[in-house]
Amino acid sequence: MQAETDILELSWGQLGIAFIALSATGILFGFKALKMPRRKGTYVPPDDVVIAQKKPIGIELVEGEKYAWCACGRSNKQPFCDGSHKGTGITPVVFVADISGLASLCGCKRSDNAPFCNGRHNDL
Ligand code: FES
Repeated sequence: MQAETDILELSWGQLGIAFIALSATGILFGFKALKMPRRKGTYVPPDDVVIAQKKPIGIELVEGEKYAWCACGRSNKQPFCDGSHKGTGITPVVFVADISGLASLCGCKRSDNAPFCNGRHNDL
């Protein structure tokens, strides 16, 4: 009989404190997730790239297919190269898809894990 009465006796103040504590925890985890270290790669983006867009470009890749990812940001066929890099000294990143499926290719052209997005656009 006692246990049932205890639950019903929680005051609004206690409920409020519990709610605030849960919200604070959620916010802390949110910040922690935001601070999660980005996937590090070895690609060094050239200085004068153009930001094609400040978010990744979702694209279906086919295993074994070769692609030329636009590294300069000037292509009209993003995320792929269309030759607009001519004269810039920048060359496309050519890669062969390891697997078939949806990939997030870098749109901001500043990922150090190019051609794949690593969240660097969030800092722009
Ligand atoms: S158009 Fe950008 S690398 Fe070719």
